[in-house]
Amino acid sequence: MPIEKAEVASVKLPLALVGDGALVPCIDGVERPYAGLDAAASTGVLPSVMTRVQDFLPLYSSVHRGAGYKSQVATTEYENAREAALRFAGREGRDDVAIICRNTTEAINHLVYRLRLNADDVVATTVVEHHANLLPWSRVATCRYVECGLDGTFTVSDVEAALDASPTPRLLSVTGASNITGWIPPIDEIIAAAHSRGIQVVVDGAQLAPHRPLPSTADFVAWSGHKMYAPFGAGVLVGPRAAFVEGDPFLAGGGAVDLVDLDEVVWTDPPEREEAGSPNVVGAVALHAAIDALSEVGWPAMIEHDRSMSRALRSGLMGIAGVRLLGPDLETDTLPVATFSVAGVPFGLVAARLSAEFGIGVRHGCFCAHPYLMRLLGLSEDQVARFRADIRKGDRHHVPGAVRASCGINTTEEDIQRLLVAVAQIAVGGEPRFSYLQDPTSGDFTPDPSSGWYADPRFQGRTCSPG
Ligand SMILES: Cc1ncc(COP(=O)(O)O)c(C=O)c1O
Repeated sequence: MPIEKAEVASVKLPLALVGDGALVPCIDGVERPYAGLDAAASTGVLPSVMTRVQDFLPLYSSVHRGAGYKSQVATTEYENAREAALRFAGREGRDDVAIICRNTTEAINHLVYRLRLNADDVVATTVVEHHANLLPWSRVATCRYVECGLDGTFTVSDVEAALDASPTPRLLSVTGASNITGWIPPIDEIIAAAHSRGIQVVVDGAQLAPHRPLPSTADFVAWSGHKMYAPFGAGVLVGPRAAFVEGDPFLAGGGAVDLVDLDEVVWTDPPEREEAGSPNVVGAVALHAAIDALSEVGWPAMIEHDRSMSRALRSGLMGIAGVRLLGPDLETDTLPVATFSVAGVPFGLVAARLSAEFGIGVRHGCFCAHPYLMRLLGLSEDQVARFRADIRKGDRHHVPGAVRASCGINTTEEDIQRLLVAVAQIAVGGEPRFSYLQDPTSGDFTPDPSSGWYADPRFQGRTCSPG
């Protein structure tokens, strides 16, 4: 059943993921159920995904490389996953291919290589992008960036201005949703504006895929399984078959060829041409299972759940004195993502305290979207230059950043309440009950070892927010 056709949810949300409710050690010696509010980074695994993988593993074998029964099963499963990915991206009835890769980053790098851009080709993109949709383009072509306002949004007219500037861009690459603010650009109108000018569109669907239908009119779309409850290392690049028929592929090797001589190679047809090496069939099976599970829930139920979590999270944070929410106002429809700062408390300390004292997992730092975060924080070029100089010296004491809480299909109102209560306690200020130390090279905070806490072997004492 195509996911967009599901009108009535047969599954009630929230839907528990594998490991939900697991107890984690906190600094006061109490074990608390983990509140994972970091779905925008990676989600947990859906029980049906785990079951499908477990059922498949006894039959696991090579794909496209054997006549044995298990190889036939594995190959069938792999090709079925490809078909499911095409359906999920709304590509039925089109001559498109789904290339299974590791993740969105790899998918976009793959596409950039395949498009054979020159340094003077213009790629229109935006300052809202994740680095995965900035760096692969900017290192080979000339990027023209659509700016955003302080609220982190831009309009279709802003995009049109970038498309109409000279020279005409070869393509537009834009995110389906922001990983920092959860803002969802008006993607269908943006695609229509580009197409009316004969410009192809690439959509980074990493954040959109688990929350909203992928735009079927986009020429290319990329997304990651690990952000949609299938954390086994598969992502997808979807695009017209014709784009991959000529030229050498991103990866060269076995499986991508029909015939090789020492001085000549006959590449095979896409999508296999694009998938040299043994493919990740377990990842593909997991991705397929996640697509099936989300189809069963249906977009209306997922969107309703998202909106209710988004409202509770964002308005709750806005209501805490000293908390600043980045991004658009509460009236704007966003994914259930909230990025915020707490006055007077370093963002790394907020995240460390949420973890150590409350058992809550969030993301902190710059979220791999530095240009966007700098704009949302309203930093001047001079300030950014100073931070850059500090980082070059290995000093991350004062590097700017924020804290992000994000929800998935499993998030409960209780999870959000726990976060709000914890943030309110932190925002009150004053000395924390436990002391924390900052590592100047990472900027991260961890509980002071003299607290005795490290005597518990389960305490990792690690955080990681380099980007
Ligand atoms: C909007 C967006 N694009 C791309 C990526 C990169 O995804 P991956 O790490 O799966 O390659 C992310 C990851 O957070 C993202 O949020």
